[in-house]
Amino acid sequence: MGTLENRLQGKVVVITGGTSGIGLAAAARVLEEGGTVVVTGRDSGRGADALAELDSGRAHFAQHDVTSRESWRVLLDQVAERHGRVDGLVNNAGRSATAAPFEQESQEAWEGILATNLSGVFHGMQAVIPVMREAGGGSIVNVSSAGGLVGLPLTATYAATKWGLRGLTRVAALELAHRGIRVNSVHPGMVYTPMTVESAGVVEGEGNYPPAPVGRVAGAGEIAGAITYLLSDDASYTTGAEIAVDGGWTAGISPRALLGDELAAALLG
Ligand SMILES: NC(=O)c1ccc[n+]([C@@H]2O[C@H](COP(=O)([O-])OP(=O)(O)OC[C@H]3O[C@@H](n4cnc5c(N)ncnc54)[C@H](O)[C@@H]3O)[C@@H](O)[C@H]2O)c1
Repeated sequence: MGTLENRLQGKVVVITGGTSGIGLAAAARVLEEGGTVVVTGRDSGRGADALAELDSGRAHFAQHDVTSRESWRVLLDQVAERHGRVDGLVNNAGRSATAAPFEQESQEAWEGILATNLSGVFHGMQAVIPVMREAGGGSIVNVSSAGGLVGLPLTATYAATKWGLRGLTRVAALELAHRGIRVNSVHPGMVYTPMTVESAGVVEGEGNYPPAPVGRVAGAGEIAGAITYLLSDDASYTTGAEIAVDGGWTAGISPRALLGDELAAALLG
């Protein structure tokens, strides 16, 4: 086992949608832990900005659209040519839908979000598994959501995709464990990223998020450590697992939601 500074040394990790938010934070963490990272995204300008922020010779960008099987083929050919291996794939790219009651969810949103959040991961797993099998192992981390562990109102399409990832993750974990390929999912709660700033007006700071017992939203860096743990050999016996990184949100009902602010404070301090 390595130390945190070197436990990903020699490993090549691909992070989809890695030019912002959780993906970018995970890329920074891969670099801190000694790995090489390829962040992918549709926009090369945003890729250049991400590389400037990561500021490392071990960081690379590849233009890539997760919804296209051809784009996956090109990406993995590029990575093979440049790095000769893929040890980790983080299926992070995702979209959220505009909050809508179930019966008003549009077909357009349904099809578009499924194409990215669920089919995109399916295509990526199908593309990378043969490469990892050939190499004798690897780690796939699927970024689901707390909304894939519980039902959250007004998220029908998003929920379907994030619950769907659990099925893909578990089936692949069962089929691939004997090949040395581990497949796990991470379930962030509410995280301060461009996605939630745009869709939910999330703000950073203490006390701003009562549904999570810790009482605040997460920073993207607080999700990154769970991702790099799963990529590393520290997680050599972890496959088919679902790791909630949600400030206790899906553990049950937060005391403030159950009792109200006043009674919760009186009883629990
Ligand atoms: N922020 C949260 O509160 C939260 C909570 C739970 C789960 N998540 C999940 O975390 C992941 C990252 O989200 P984030 O919050 O960092 O938001 P984000 O918007 O910063 O990151 C998502 C990235 O995916 C990229 N992307 C979208 N469609 C793509 C495509 N077709 N091909 C390639 N890239 C594409 C976007 O351009 C963006 O860079 C998503 O899967 C999201 O569903 C986020």
